[in-house]
Amino acid sequence: MAVDLGPLGQQSAASAFLIGVGALTVGSVVFATLRVLLSTFVLPGHSLSKYGPKGSWAVVTGASDGLGKEYALQLAKKGFNLILVSRTASKLASLSSQIKTSSPNISVETLAMDFSQNLDVDYTALAALVQGKQIAILINNVGQSHSIPVPFIETPLAEVSNIININCLGTLRATQTVLPSMLPQKRGLILTMGSFGGLAPTPLLATYSGSKAFLQQWSNALASELSPAGVEVYFVHSYLVTSAMSKIRRTNWLVPSERTFVSSVLAKIGRRGGSFGYPYSGSPYWSHALVAALITGVLGPMSSILLGINKRMHVDIRKRAIKKAERDAQKGKKNT
Ligand SMILES: NC(=O)c1ccc[n+]([C@@H]2O[C@H](COP(=O)([O-])OP(=O)(O)OC[C@H]3O[C@@H](n4cnc5c(N)ncnc54)[C@H](OP(=O)(O)O)[C@@H]3O)[C@@H](O)[C@H]2O)c1
Repeated sequence: MAVDLGPLGQQSAASAFLIGVGALTVGSVVFATLRVLLSTFVLPGHSLSKYGPKGSWAVVTGASDGLGKEYALQLAKKGFNLILVSRTASKLASLSSQIKTSSPNISVETLAMDFSQNLDVDYTALAALVQGKQIAILINNVGQSHSIPVPFIETPLAEVSNIININCLGTLRATQTVLPSMLPQKRGLILTMGSFGGLAPTPLLATYSGSKAFLQQWSNALASELSPAGVEVYFVHSYLVTSAMSKIRRTNWLVPSERTFVSSVLAKIGRRGGSFGYPYSGSPYWSHALVAALITGVLGPMSSILLGINKRMHVDIRKRAIKKAERDAQKGKKNT
């Protein structure tokens, strides 16, 4: 039997409904904010010892410079032996002797290979290096971006194919090569470097942006496949860090040094930071986490507002990069 609430009763039912919806909304915002703050500033990540004892091995790709070099240095300090894979043999040799001097108990093996070439012989050499070793950690760090922001239509084919071969195919083939040496232990970590450039579509870095978005999907799918095998897969959302790739030398609150960034990644494995809606992924550096929360939790990574901001930013970076190249060319002419 229907109950007639009368006009006053209907009004109070409507108010109770609105108050309920309001309370739920406020509650979920408070919960989400607390989650970001706890994940970013309070809760520790998984200890690296979870993935293998001291003396087991870590493989780092793109290890001779930037973030990869820093991963190598910090993993050596934590007691992991290292297989370092990168393009330039001389840089690998000098990093290897630096590590052997500072951490004499650590074994370091190196492989100089160019991921852009996608050569079977290189992956066979990598397979030979990992064979028989207890591999605890794979850091899929190798990556290339565009030399400067560039409209897709003007992007040289060589740059397009290098980015895809290095970032996508290289990461997939390195993982397929290393994973068989991780599975017998029923534990391990595969960490892959993503980028805010792939979190949200990035005009004028379209191929790089697409390559990192590809890695996002691949890494999440792999994480789910490998969880019954005990191997954890973690995808890192990173904004700018000082390095040759970013062409930024000075740090600020939003742009940490390689050392600070890598130490926060290694301290926060498995934590989401500010990355909403991406399983097995996180934004470990504190200010990147806050920006990630804004992008993934408030604006939405596919929002047209964000796309517009991103486009203006990269159009501006391109203009400045072209002006700088012109100034450098002028200087070069004067000096000859
Ligand atoms: N830096 C940032 O602001 C930033 C932001 C977001 C994400 N990331 C990601 O973080 C990762 C590392 O970036 P980074 O800034 O450290 O880069 P980086 O300073 O340019 O260093 C790249 C490393 O990869 C190696 N490498 C490049 N091309 C290679 C190739 N074809 N074959 C083999 N090795 C190659 C380089 O070797 P060489 O010694 O021969 O140069 C170097 O060791 C990348 O995946 C990047 O997308 C970086």
